[in-house]
Amino acid sequence: KPAVRLALLGCGTVGSEVVRLLHDQAEDLTARIGAPLELVGIAVRRLGRERGSLPVDPALFTTDALGLVKRDDVDVVIEVVGGIEPARSWLTEALRAGKSVVTANKALLAEDGATLHDAAAEGGADLYYEASVAGAIPLLRPLRESLHGDRVTRVTGIVNGTTNFILSSMDATGAGFGEALDEATELGYAEADPTADVEGFDAAAKAAILASLAFHTRVTAADVFREGMTGVTAADMASAKEMGCTIKLLCLAERGEDSSGQESVSVRVHPAMIPRSHPLASVGDAFNAVFVEAEAAGQLMFYGRGAGGTPTASAVLGDIVAAARNRLSGTRAPSESAYAHLPIRPIGEA
Ligand code: HSE
Repeated sequence: KPAVRLALLGCGTVGSEVVRLLHDQAEDLTARIGAPLELVGIAVRRLGRERGSLPVDPALFTTDALGLVKRDDVDVVIEVVGGIEPARSWLTEALRAGKSVVTANKALLAEDGATLHDAAAEGGADLYYEASVAGAIPLLRPLRESLHGDRVTRVTGIVNGTTNFILSSMDATGAGFGEALDEATELGYAEADPTADVEGFDAAAKAAILASLAFHTRVTAADVFREGMTGVTAADMASAKEMGCTIKLLCLAERGEDSSGQESVSVRVHPAMIPRSHPLASVGDAFNAVFVEAEAAGQLMFYGRGAGGTPTASAVLGDIVAAARNRLSGTRAPSESAYAHLPIRPIGEA
């Protein structure tokens, strides 16, 4: 069979691992898909940075991302750049032209997923985004597919590795927030500017994506009640421990009824005290875990590495394989384009 042709947008921590995995596993991937995968271009912001260590022809690098997306011979566009623009323009262009899109862009999906889903519907194209939430953990596919015959009632998760590392370290050592943040930065968990993590923006974006899939509705980051964890002190943690609890930054998405009996959802991110016996209490280090409750399935727990180049690239590769296989067989991925907007229940209402 002819090769499935891939364009990669972005070649940072995740992108370079995608390139490496595509190269290292080329033979297995070809066998699994039934056709080879061919990387035809890699868009980067600047040429000339050291790309020598990547197992790829240097001539594939370009700074013209839009030009690469528009190429007729590209079947699948993979975006690991992040941010709203220009990623949104590139991906809507690709989807409208019928190309499959694989993206790890949680900010874009959470702020304006509707535009991508609509472009996919318009172009008869597929949108895959397993890597956008909780890195390596297979979580969106179960919500998008496996649980579609069930009714999810609640999703409770630790979806930010940086803050989980900080809170776990405060719990283990009695350190204050600042000290634990410094340790997270030294070890390379926290970014130079940790605002998006510690103020809960990153978790809120992930919560919006999870709630949309769990409840078949459109939830945006702006719908999510958000409180960061910078106010959690060593004394708070000590009191929690005295009560047999710990403190985690949780994302919580619940289906329910508002005061007038109308079906609605509430989605929130905030620090919460949880009993040590709760499965999420033992999630330490920079791990992520998501606890899903569904009417027929009961309780499910998803656990693993939520960040990092290689774990995130694992999720991207899984989506690339799905996209390639579906293109070859003419099968469509699940679509979220028909999701309506369920009312968002204010926090505090039953
Ligand atoms: N900063 C994020 C985290 C990276 O710490 O979980 C993954 O989205």
